[in-house]
Amino acid sequence: MQTACSPFAARSFCKPFTVRGLGARGWGGSEALNAAQWGITGKLYNFGANMDVMIQAKGIEKSFGTLKVLKGIDFSAEKSEVVSIMGASGAGKSTLLQILGTLSTPDAGSLVIDGIDVLALKGKAMAEFRNRKIGFVFQFHHLLPEFTALENVMIPAFIAGRSKKDAEENAKALLTDLGLAERFSHKPSELSGGEQQRVAIARALINNPSVLFADEPSGNLDSKTKEELHKLFFTLRDKYGQTIIIVTHDPDLAKMCDRSLYMVDGQFISE
Ligand SMILES: Nc1ncnc2c1ncn2[C@@H]1O[C@H](COP(=O)(O)OP(=O)(O)OP(=O)(O)O)[C@@H](O)[C@H]1O
Ligand SMILES: [Mg+2]
Repeated sequence: MQTACSPFAARSFCKPFTVRGLGARGWGGSEALNAAQWGITGKLYNFGANMDVMIQAKGIEKSFGTLKVLKGIDFSAEKSEVVSIMGASGAGKSTLLQILGTLSTPDAGSLVIDGIDVLALKGKAMAEFRNRKIGFVFQFHHLLPEFTALENVMIPAFIAGRSKKDAEENAKALLTDLGLAERFSHKPSELSGGEQQRVAIARALINNPSVLFADEPSGNLDSKTKEELHKLFFTLRDKYGQTIIIVTHDPDLAKMCDRSLYMVDGQFISE
């Protein structure tokens, strides 16, 4: 375990995994997908010797009106690294996560994810990149209430243009992996809070994203469910090799991560 707070601390990992939950695509298949295959026109970067970098953000700034929330953030994460971001309410954690997750754009700075200059992506290419490469888990799961657990998980696969058979097989395998084999046909209102959050994680994983962003994923869970969910992130990393960035107020979760960063007033500080 590593708790150094430098955003650039290096680490390499052993990544055991199986491809059961990933259906026909598999991990290797998705890794083999490249920007050109998606028609993405963003500039490809060469990291030289360090091909293990998954996210590299430099000088990220963001203001809302006259309120400067992010003041030149540098952040990087390696492939398969689990990084936590902590800090007081209002420090800018969610704002940064939304930018790193391509849900929002910065006023200044650069962002390269898996070798792609994401800020250069526009419209459909950006949506496609997000759908294929990024998974998001929010504090409140945002499941669609009228759809079953299985359907909620399948939706991003449909958006990615995958067949019903492929999406369904993959969604069932993921839900089974997450202990929800008996809950395929339950609607969100028929699931417990922890189960809903696991469905949201399966949904975030269905397109085998390179990066999983989680914003206070255990914020509304009881302590036992919370602990199970925390362990789950590390199981997922070991199994699927994802880079996982977690914003949390929970020091126990932060301690479990490979690296823990602390944000104060729009900047990372040393602990
Ligand atoms: N869309 C917006 N418009 C205006 N101000 C915003 C907007 N989004 C965030 N802010 C402000 O930016 C600051 C940082 O917000 P952010 O949500 O990033 O904080 P946070 O660190 O995630 O806090 P918390 O731990 O409470 O979730 C806050 O002062 C917030 O009021
Ligand atoms: Mg927040």
